[in-house]
Amino acid sequence: MALHDSIGRTINYLRLSVTDRCNLRCRYCMPEDGIAKFTHGDILSYEELFRIARVAVSIGIDKIRITGGEPLVRKGIIPFLQQLAGIPGLEQLVLTTNGVLLEKMAPELRSSGVQRLNISLDSLNPETFRQISRCGDLKFVLAGIDAAKECGFPIKLNMVVMRGINDHELMDFVNLATTSAVTVRFIEYMPAIREHNWQRLVVPGAEILARLEQRFTLIPLEQAAMAGPARNFRIPGSHGSLGVITPVSHHFCSECNRIRVTASGLAKGCLFAGDQMDLKSALQSGSNQLLASALCAIVDTKPDRHHMCLEECHHQAFSMSSIGG
Ligand code: GTP
Ligand code: 5AD
Ligand code: SF4
Ligand code: SF4
Repeated sequence: MALHDSIGRTINYLRLSVTDRCNLRCRYCMPEDGIAKFTHGDILSYEELFRIARVAVSIGIDKIRITGGEPLVRKGIIPFLQQLAGIPGLEQLVLTTNGVLLEKMAPELRSSGVQRLNISLDSLNPETFRQISRCGDLKFVLAGIDAAKECGFPIKLNMVVMRGINDHELMDFVNLATTSAVTVRFIEYMPAIREHNWQRLVVPGAEILARLEQRFTLIPLEQAAMAGPARNFRIPGSHGSLGVITPVSHHFCSECNRIRVTASGLAKGCLFAGDQMDLKSALQSGSNQLLASALCAIVDTKPDRHHMCLEECHHQAFSMSSIGG
């Protein structure tokens, strides 16, 4: 069964946030003075999250990405993932993490049924890493990435490229993709928090590619259907691959295949649109039919595109940690 939105896009992908908490404070995700966190009672129980996942699969979702905050900080995440992995019809169960807790958790994550990991990594320099994450220790993340590789996870590394902050490290990240079998994705900074003068931080994807092409030959990889927001490339002789994600300079909304549910039970049709639907009353009613209707209704609210560009943005400021990116 396929789910379509009002302009005919197929919606098969749910980004399900299990917590807004995080053990990092990345500068592109949260404002300096912090953010209001959901209270304990606002957060959906695993039972409720599981019901949402099951109902989503029953209406046509076949890929679920678990997000946060940082999903691995929520207690009991492993049994929850095991339960999700057993949903008939769910073809892909994947997770995005900052990697801090991966060294210890990679083996149990692998056996829980999670198929792939996307790991945020914005710098290979400990000082820059700490500056960007405001409190992180790079060595834990690198150890986490190694542990995940050892367990056999296919890995994508997400680098949010920021001018004057980490963009001098582009070539070091290319090196990672040439020497090991990972996909490195360069992501344009999105002004989610509407930081003052945010435009200065955006390095457009075209500029990133031009800088890489001065040193390397980039062979475009064919884009599979529903492959996601990245344009991918291979460097001859390399073990891994590269991708560029350009939400600001060249949006990919016409290919959008996703909806989101936050840890407090708000369904959202678009990362940058205000429309949202509180799933709590549908959950409390006990009716899966009501829950299915609410998810279909949020699919119907999906805008054809966001309206953020290099010159301006109009959305209400939000923290990525409350939605899951
Ligand atoms: P796969 O394609 O399944 O590997 O994952 P993904 O790229 O969809 O997910 P990931 O969590 O790794 O996100 C990568 C980057 O894309 C992050 O910067 C996200 O914030 C951004 N992103 C993910 N989905 C969307 C979206 O629907 N719209 C926009 N504008 N950005 C998105
Ligand atoms: N711009 C671009 N990417 C972002 N992410 C979080 N906030 C932003 C932002 N403002 C990325 C994280 C993580 C993914 C879920 O979203 O780095 O890899
Ligand atoms: Fe945490 Fe991810 Fe936000 Fe960084 S971007 S503070 S790791 S939720
Ligand atoms: Fe989809 Fe909205 Fe992201 Fe565009 S900005 S890809 S419409 S979620």
